[in-house]
Amino acid sequence: MHDTIELKQISHHFDTSEERIELFHGLSHTIRTGETLAIVGPSGAGKSSLLSIAAGLEAPVGGTVRFTVDGREVDALTLRANSGFIFQQFHLMPELDAIGNLALPLRLKGNRAAFDIAASWLEKVGLEDRARHRPHQLSGGEQQRIAVARAFVSQPRFIFADEPTGNLDARTSENVSSLMFDFAAETGCGLVIVTHSKRLALCAQKSLRLEAGRLEVSA
Ligand SMILES: Nc1ncnc2c1ncn2[C@@H]1O[C@H](COP(=O)(O)OP(=O)(O)OP(=O)(O)O)[C@@H](O)[C@H]1O
Ligand SMILES: [Mg+2]
Repeated sequence: MHDTIELKQISHHFDTSEERIELFHGLSHTIRTGETLAIVGPSGAGKSSLLSIAAGLEAPVGGTVRFTVDGREVDALTLRANSGFIFQQFHLMPELDAIGNLALPLRLKGNRAAFDIAASWLEKVGLEDRARHRPHQLSGGEQQRIAVARAFVSQPRFIFADEPTGNLDARTSENVSSLMFDFAAETGCGLVIVTHSKRLALCAQKSLRLEAGRLEVSA
């Protein structure tokens, strides 16, 4: 059974003191586990906002967002608890070493095997010899590999990634994106990636192009 994120006729805008910034109007799309999706489009089109809405981090101004997990409708908080996030700036905890960063989401859920599971994920991303390094002692690519592993460590249903390769050189980007797609295929989760990289977008099964408030889907 697929878990789903159903966006129906959603609209979003931001009001500033001078103006209203209209992002989109009447967008509908359903995202499912087992599916990889790229969200592309020009800067400022609203891609990150759309990702936040799909991930249940933000509510749209108009329309409805429905989440189902194991065939039951759940709220945004539950979807978030079943999701992993990857950002352009890595966002690792600076005071924790690599294995500590990986173990943290599991420890927060009271998982007693946190460090063993973290160690196995360190190995999966090829960084077992960096376990005791803190983020500032790691390269950008190494930090992002840790962040990818951290996103997957709690067996999420969905992974949301916003420009995950935006700060990496071409070779490191390839490496990080193959990890994301391999793990998504292995675990059967849904993978939603906002990206400016054509190469990365082409790795996804579907592409959503957001431009001038409209959504164009291509398979
Ligand atoms: N909290 C906010 N308050 C006011 N305006 C906002 C807010 N967040 C985003 N915006 C505006 O909404 C528009 C869309 O922002 P968003 O970050 O979703 O775009 P994006 O497509 O992700 O762009 P980029 O590719 O540059 O990351 C932008 O014009 C931005 O300035
Ligand atoms: Mg953005």
